Amino acid sequence: MSLSFLTTAAQVRTRVAALAAQGRPLALVPTMGCLHAGHLALVEAAKGRLGPEGGGVAALSLFVNPLQFGPHEDFGRYPRQLEEDRGVCERVGIDWLYAPPAQEVYPPGFQTYVSCEALSLPLCGQSRPGHFRGVATVVCKLLALFRPRWAVFGEKDFQQLCLIRALNRDLDLGVEIVGVPIIREADGLALSSRNKLLSATERRQATALFRVLSTARQRCCEGERRAWVLKEEAERGLLEAGIRMDYVAIVDEVGLAPVEPIEGRGIRMLVAGFAGGIRLIDNIALPCPD
Ligand code: PAJ
Repeated sequence: MSLSFLTTAAQVRTRVAALAAQGRPLALVPTMGCLHAGHLALVEAAKGRLGPEGGGVAALSLFVNPLQFGPHEDFGRYPRQLEEDRGVCERVGIDWLYAPPAQEVYPPGFQTYVSCEALSLPLCGQSRPGHFRGVATVVCKLLALFRPRWAVFGEKDFQQLCLIRALNRDLDLGVEIVGVPIIREADGLALSSRNKLLSATERRQATALFRVLSTARQRCCEGERRAWVLKEEAERGLLEAGIRMDYVAIVDEVGLAPVEPIEGRGIRMLVAGFAGGIRLIDNIALPCPD
């Protein structure tokens, strides 16, 4: 199947109806474009769910969602490269690429928003008020439009993934939400479209995020169970590397509530900070081999 380039909800709806009538499944990968190997890992996971027979459809949405950017954030300078992304989609075997203009997603009169309550408040929600309302609204619209059997998201945006699982459950959308582990550069930096915006110095500083996470994980493996100690060490590590810290947190993976001491499974350490003006996030599972 060659790539279909779709720009309106009506085009998607017609195709989705035809697909459903044939009983063929769809796997959706929502993105904001500027595709990199992290996104491609999601595409691979989507195609893996569809299986080798080729009966289903792999769809990728590409939309830089204005609603999830604050007034002083980087919506204007967020990298955009539609033609390159289109080529990438063709190469990796995406069947449908949906890249709507903003007025298609938010036409005049748009007034319905989705907001996950408790999960939107901590961590990135603290410094980015309204961000998760924007994410939840656009993801909900995409899931309602595409009605996929699977929707694939990265663990890179861990809070986002938790929130999407919650909205899928709470609104009975019935989609299988697939989480994919973080893809990293050779030096550990998590791939991100925003990495393109880093200067050479900032790029070097940015490696501190994964470094402090790896150190914490190592210390935890060696028996340090006090979350506050690991957090302080990580904060110091970020400071020394010239990263302006936003937060360092150790939380349970479902409710994102702080954990102290580190005991049992399903615990994650999350960090956010600025290299120059560029906001970066990363996270790691803290193993707790009792
Ligand atoms: P975007 O930042 O383009 O990311 C799209 C998807 O790719 C997200 O699920 C994200 O977690 C995943 N991803 C990004 N970098 C990754 C990496 N290094 N390894 C693994 N997965 C990675 O996240 C968004 O867009 C938007 O908020 C969106 C969900 C599309 C809603 O607008």
